[in-house]
Amino acid sequence: MVDVLGQYKRYQQEIDNAILGVVRSGAYINGPAVKRFEREMAEYLQVPHAIACASGTDALQIALMALGVKPGDEIITTPFTFVATTETIALLGAKPVYVDIDPKTFNIDPEKITERITPRTKAILPVHLFGQPCDITRIKEIADAHHLYLIEDAAQVVGATWKGKKACGFGDIASISFYPSKNLGAFGDGGMMTAFDDEIAERLRSIANHGASRTYYHDRLGVNSRLDSVQAAILSVKLQYLDEWNVRRREIAAIYSDHFSLHADLIQTPYVDPHAVPIWHQYSIMLKSNRDLVMASLKAAGIPTNIYYPVPLHLQPAYQSYGGKKGDYPLSEYACEHILSLPMHSEMTDDDAAYIAENVIHHIRNRNQ
Ligand SMILES: Cc1ncc(COP(=O)(O)O)c(C=O)c1O
Repeated sequence: MVDVLGQYKRYQQEIDNAILGVVRSGAYINGPAVKRFEREMAEYLQVPHAIACASGTDALQIALMALGVKPGDEIITTPFTFVATTETIALLGAKPVYVDIDPKTFNIDPEKITERITPRTKAILPVHLFGQPCDITRIKEIADAHHLYLIEDAAQVVGATWKGKKACGFGDIASISFYPSKNLGAFGDGGMMTAFDDEIAERLRSIANHGASRTYYHDRLGVNSRLDSVQAAILSVKLQYLDEWNVRRREIAAIYSDHFSLHADLIQTPYVDPHAVPIWHQYSIMLKSNRDLVMASLKAAGIPTNIYYPVPLHLQPAYQSYGGKKGDYPLSEYACEHILSLPMHSEMTDDDAAYIAENVIHHIRNRNQ
């Protein structure tokens, strides 16, 4: 699905030098490499503050803590995403309140948000899924009208734009993941929060560092969540190539979509919103039928595919206490049953993409005969 080793080999000398530089500096935690990477990311995303932390999951939790989310608060979010988005809400004792997705983009449907707002609603937490920004301008309008905080889960979307502006540039806080398979991936866990407001940024930085304003002086409850300097140095190297890699992903997506265009009876290709320039974290098709059989035959033919995500969060056993049941969010449930993600990474050749597309078509036709 991804080729992290192939990408490393292409930039090996530069990355090895960056790692060795940190090792030789002795500054392993919050050293100059982290400060530098934070500055580079703030500039890249055109936000005033970028604060590194240990993972995308931590970034979400720290964001919620910084906005004062407490037990009983409600956070509006999507059931069709990676678990971390809901998990962090639940960890703070708050309640995830779900809104179903737009079936074309797989992102939260802004028009269904207002009906879920109650006096307990504290924030809206949309996810920019699969590398395509959600309709974040509309969601921001709703958040502003109801005096709610807006947190962008930008784990999968670093570099994508919405109406010409980079994702992370809309919410009070945005959270990012540098998990190795992300478009901008570290060699381990890593994450980041961005913010506009100086005071919120200060809170984020302090919470990520045990709630301290300076060493051994603790103003608030915090956690230990820091990005290793080695990871920051690797990410600084990789950031220089991110836009190039994202262009390559767009080319691969175009090859896939071109091949599938004659088979619309069986394959629904990903929809790109005219306001979005996606970065194709995933290329996900929808199969009308036999998804699991097609997946098995592709696997037997040596072609990996994956299901993001097989179960919507309202139906996961861990979150049953919030009362979700089958049929509550039918569009998310349908997506879970029919979606299939294909290999997508910057190291793929045109021939790889064409070969995979042809095989996908062949196995779908076979399974549907
Ligand atoms: C949408 C989304 N949110 C949050 C996360 C959590 O990020 P991490 O794995 O870095 O903790 C991920 C990634 O894995 C994700 O895809």
